[in-house]
Amino acid sequence: MRVAISDMSPDAMRLVRRGPDAVGEQAAALFALANGLCGVEGVIDERASRPCAYLPDAYVSRPITYHESFPGYATATDTRVPCPSPLLVRLHIDGQPVDFAAAELLDTESVLDLATGALRRVSRWRIEDGRTLEIAVERIVPLAGGACVASRIRIRPLDFAGSVQAWLTYGTEAGGAGEAEADDPRISGRLRPVWSIIPPLPGDNPSVTRFAQDAVELAYRQHVASPAAQVAAVHAGHVVRGALVAGGILTIDRVVALACARGRPVDLVALDGVAADFDVIAAGQRAAVQALWECAALDIDGDDELARALRFDLFQLHQSASRDANHSIGAKGLSGEGYEGHYFWDAETFMLPVLALQAPERARTLLAYRIGKLDRARVHARAIGHARGALYPWRTIAGDECSSHYPTGSAQYHINGDIAYALALYVAASGDEAFRAEAAEMLFETARMWLEIGAFDARRGGAFCLHGVTGPDEYSALVDNDFYTNAIARRHLAYAAETAEWLRARGELAAVAAAIGLSDGEVAEWRRAADAMWLPVDPGLGVNPQDDAFLGRPELPGLTSARDGHGPLLMRYHPMILFRHQVAKQGNVVQAMAMDLVEMPVSRQRRNFDYYARVTTHDSTLSSVSFGIAAARLGDEAAALDFHRECAFVDLENRHGNTSHGLHMAALAGSWLVLAQGWGGLRLDGAVPSFRPQLPAAWTGYRLRLQWRGSVIELAVGDAGCTYRLVSGDPVDILDHGRPLRVGGDPVVMDRPRLKGVIFDLDGVLTDTAEDHYQAWQALADSHGFAFDRQANHRLKGVDRRNSLRLILEHAGAEVEAERFDAMLAEKNDIYRERLAAYSPANLFAGVGALLDGLRAAGLKIGLASASRNALDVVRLLGIADQFDFIADAGAVANAKPAPDIFLACAHGMGLRPDQCIGIEDAEAGVSAIHAAGMVAIGIGSEEALPDADMHVPATGQLTVANILSFERGAAARGGLSTRPDTVEEISC
Ligand code: BG6
Ligand code: MG
Repeated sequence: MRVAISDMSPDAMRLVRRGPDAVGEQAAALFALANGLCGVEGVIDERASRPCAYLPDAYVSRPITYHESFPGYATATDTRVPCPSPLLVRLHIDGQPVDFAAAELLDTESVLDLATGALRRVSRWRIEDGRTLEIAVERIVPLAGGACVASRIRIRPLDFAGSVQAWLTYGTEAGGAGEAEADDPRISGRLRPVWSIIPPLPGDNPSVTRFAQDAVELAYRQHVASPAAQVAAVHAGHVVRGALVAGGILTIDRVVALACARGRPVDLVALDGVAADFDVIAAGQRAAVQALWECAALDIDGDDELARALRFDLFQLHQSASRDANHSIGAKGLSGEGYEGHYFWDAETFMLPVLALQAPERARTLLAYRIGKLDRARVHARAIGHARGALYPWRTIAGDECSSHYPTGSAQYHINGDIAYALALYVAASGDEAFRAEAAEMLFETARMWLEIGAFDARRGGAFCLHGVTGPDEYSALVDNDFYTNAIARRHLAYAAETAEWLRARGELAAVAAAIGLSDGEVAEWRRAADAMWLPVDPGLGVNPQDDAFLGRPELPGLTSARDGHGPLLMRYHPMILFRHQVAKQGNVVQAMAMDLVEMPVSRQRRNFDYYARVTTHDSTLSSVSFGIAAARLGDEAAALDFHRECAFVDLENRHGNTSHGLHMAALAGSWLVLAQGWGGLRLDGAVPSFRPQLPAAWTGYRLRLQWRGSVIELAVGDAGCTYRLVSGDPVDILDHGRPLRVGGDPVVMDRPRLKGVIFDLDGVLTDTAEDHYQAWQALADSHGFAFDRQANHRLKGVDRRNSLRLILEHAGAEVEAERFDAMLAEKNDIYRERLAAYSPANLFAGVGALLDGLRAAGLKIGLASASRNALDVVRLLGIADQFDFIADAGAVANAKPAPDIFLACAHGMGLRPDQCIGIEDAEAGVSAIHAAGMVAIGIGSEEALPDADMHVPATGQLTVANILSFERGAAARGGLSTRPDTVEEISC
């Protein structure tokens, strides 16, 4: 078993760029350093004359002016502004200033060391008079330290000696890049910040410099040490005076602590606690980064480049993760100006799940931020006309809606559900029940919004429908029944109702309910709405419609995407053109699939994937995450690897051409989600984490780690299966392909099941129609005066209608001519169908619903092979018609059971070989058919009744994925079908 990072070559843990790639706007983002409290772009110190630091509180608020304004429109927007550069170094050599803007950069290299958390860069310059010098800087923003930037600067003249003055000051120059992008909505609002240095306050240490802009005040305190030189504090910085010897090195340590306040001067207490010694900071950083990789280490055998990218992506995510409950993570983290520093659903839906599994305290901070903004969300809800509840804004910093375009702003109600999803995930992963209670008010207030915008639609059988919303795909707006929104709303409502019950059991519901006027009736209504949520399947296409109108719209001719180098459609079309076409920026249905919001058969997942892949441009970098997860789970290796690389390299290869705006944090986080949730098949919607690891042919193995309730486990996926290992903490219960196991002590090795599909008989297996068939035959026999009874009926089980009547007549010793025979068949079917009229989902055998869910969660396909021509109607009545990958048609096969035809047709229809399937039957004819098809047979009933079945259970509901898989493996190991059955005890649950 390989250990996290100690075995890795340094190269595996480094991002290296040389020459022009080491400087410039893309490098500034790639080499950004941050610690959740501050961030700094990866710019070269001697050229860092412009603001390049980010502090979460450093944003300005400006009114939005509308020519035509309507009630509830957003009134102001927050824009995060870059803060003065804490990096700038100006050199004077022999009294002459060096102009690094004009100097020739001979050579440069930047290295981000992911093992130590330091950036090391070195540049060789030829300055005005032809002399050359080298400047090397090691820079750290300590993950576990305060808001500060620590630099060790080494100045080495290569071919001269002389005196030097190094002015360690701050870059406040306005201007620079970005003018050409003024029309790009993804960066709009970019302000050219104008910082003024303001006078010190009484008692300020000379090492402190204060700045102000708008309502934002900053204080930087600098500590400089240079043992071989003289250091003096000057206005706005320090100067280091020393001598340079050719080939010798002058070392300067610089630590700048940063603090921000809004509407008042910074209290310098905020700067306390920042270490001043570079070596102390570096040692602390090494320890913090080591601890991070303890939980986050990963490896891919066969694609080192991708593994390196994933480590870079993770490191950047963790750097930007907020450590301040007044803030979340911006779309670009703390690495750039894109999206004005706003917080979106990206934080909860893409970043938080990774943090919950690697640094749960960071996930908690993001949720605490939302709780802290609950009042603003209530105000937002009132502003747009809702009498109750809270609606979180689409984009914000301080908590108010900052989008001036409500169709793709406030209309994205799904943000409420995204926050609830994240809360549930954090609570499950951390076990932090106290926080669940703390978050309950937010959870309830946001759940209320669904009843505000939804209604039970009598025209759709009382289904709960949501109106006038925009889903994550912003190329459709203000639609009814956006699939993703309905799906996340259902999850939200169910979790809120469940949390209310959970609080009641703890005796804590009354206080929360009283605070927000919540009644039991309202909670019951949440449950009713969740149960009745409208999540349809299009009968023609067999896909889930993205919304009520989507599938009917024309497609956009000549569809191209940002990935084709044409730039996103949002930059080229009026939104209305996009809204009225069947074109998606990202896939809402696929997003719901990737988040396991809706259970669906594998075949529908495939249809959804194929359908929406065709009309999706992936103009959002988030899109490749959900498509990558879905493709990996579907075993579509080529597509999955393509999407995986798309998000993993989104910034490393500047795939969307705008890495200069900052790093795409959600896509970076998503690249780990594709590894864990896609290839690893990780699901988090059950009581324990569930894995279904798959290995693409392009790799020979991979490893990843995650934290669960304080323990860390590692998965090592190889050719044959997966080895689970406890890295630290208490044993952890998990599921592997639906099989429960405890990870602790020795590593557990699990093979990858051969089984891919489970084929059910219907009558007597999923529901009690066997009894109705009997009653119908009995009534027919009685009315025609034929001897028939329960005993005689036994031979009819599983036998098709025509052959059943033959057996009845044979038993009665009677013969009838063809016309009467056919009339009797019709008569029996009429009696039977009359009895069926009373059927409803309540007639499904107990435990079958859970079994089907478990099979799907384990990635198994589900088929139906019934001899009954009424089968489709019956499964519809039972409410499970949508759950099958394939329903074989009894009318379309040449030979009825016990011939194998219908089981073979079903396996074929599911795209599987017969030996990849198992059959479940309650009748002898069915067991024979299963065996004839070359499959293993599970019998529902006793050994006496079904002597040939390979295994028996008294009731279908007693089966679980785990015992089906273990049985199937056992049967295969024994050489398949020939040996005698296991006993009920061996497989009982
Ligand atoms: C089988 C039942 O599943 O279907 C039989 O076990 C029944 O009892 C057969 O006769 C045919 O059903 P139907 O609905 O086509 O008459
Ligand atoms: Mg049957």
